[in-house]
Amino acid sequence: MKFFLDTASVKDISWAAQAGLIDGITTNPSLLAKQAGDLDPRDVLKEICSLVEGPVSAEVVAVDADSMVREGKELAKIADNIVVKIPMLEAGMVAVRRLAEAGIKTNVTLCFSSVQCLIAAKAGAAYVSPFIGRLDDVGQEGMDVIREARVIFDNYQIATEILAASIRHPRHVVEAAMIGADVATLPPDVLKKLLLHPLTDRGLEQFLADWNKRVARAKAPVWPTPRRSARATPPRRCRRYGASAGGSGCGGGSGSRCWGPSRSSVSTSPIARWPSCAATSTTPISTARPSMRSACGTT
Ligand code: E4P
Repeated sequence: MKFFLDTASVKDISWAAQAGLIDGITTNPSLLAKQAGDLDPRDVLKEICSLVEGPVSAEVVAVDADSMVREGKELAKIADNIVVKIPMLEAGMVAVRRLAEAGIKTNVTLCFSSVQCLIAAKAGAAYVSPFIGRLDDVGQEGMDVIREARVIFDNYQIATEILAASIRHPRHVVEAAMIGADVATLPPDVLKKLLLHPLTDRGLEQFLADWNKRVARAKAPVWPTPRRSARATPPRRCRRYGASAGGSGCGGGSGSRCWGPSRSSVSTSPIARWPSCAATSTTPISTARPSMRSACGTT
């Protein structure tokens, strides 16, 4: 699933973009009006477009077809990754078709039913944006629109992407992902919430507390002193066993350890995923426990 960030604030984008989590941005007139301050919204959009490689939705404020097309073409000049957001209106569908013919991608916004999504797709939209949260707010099941649109688009091999919008909480993201929405556009606070779990915090706290007790007790350095050349690279961990040294690790690895994926080769192959086990083991793999051998992908 692609994650777009639903914001017109440049500072919201920074950490998430650095972590490679952001596949695009959606803005709307409300967000731009609130978050762009006194800046020219075009400049704000330009800066946002320079921060992310993916599509950046920028919405027209006209409501007749000619003006929407004119505004859309102007917006598209800001950057190559602008996608023009068009409201679900009759005139909007005309504008979508005309912009598509001009090679400009559109995102039809304010969709509240699956049939609106179908209409937008037929008009030639690259994205349709059903608003889940706003439907929930009025007592309807917003996710049903995503569910129905997914079935309809799959039935007819419609390439238009379903962009779950008006997301309010992590559960919306999970459900939209399970249904198969192509994109979820996340308010920045929801993106942050996706990382959180109280057990993660509690677990980390415990790990660090235990470690610090050991550090306080230790007479020698707690980590084996690395050779100077190896120093820059942090140790790798055996994902399954987590254990450090050869005796208690998976029995393989550089020197005597299985510390997880090799720095030099990250592969999607299940065997190559733990290359240090097989490639550089000094412990005969036959002496490792069978379950450990299988954890290393070397059985
Ligand atoms: C995205 O494209 C929409 O503009 C946005 O998700 C609307 O969200 P809201 O209902 O929280 O304003």
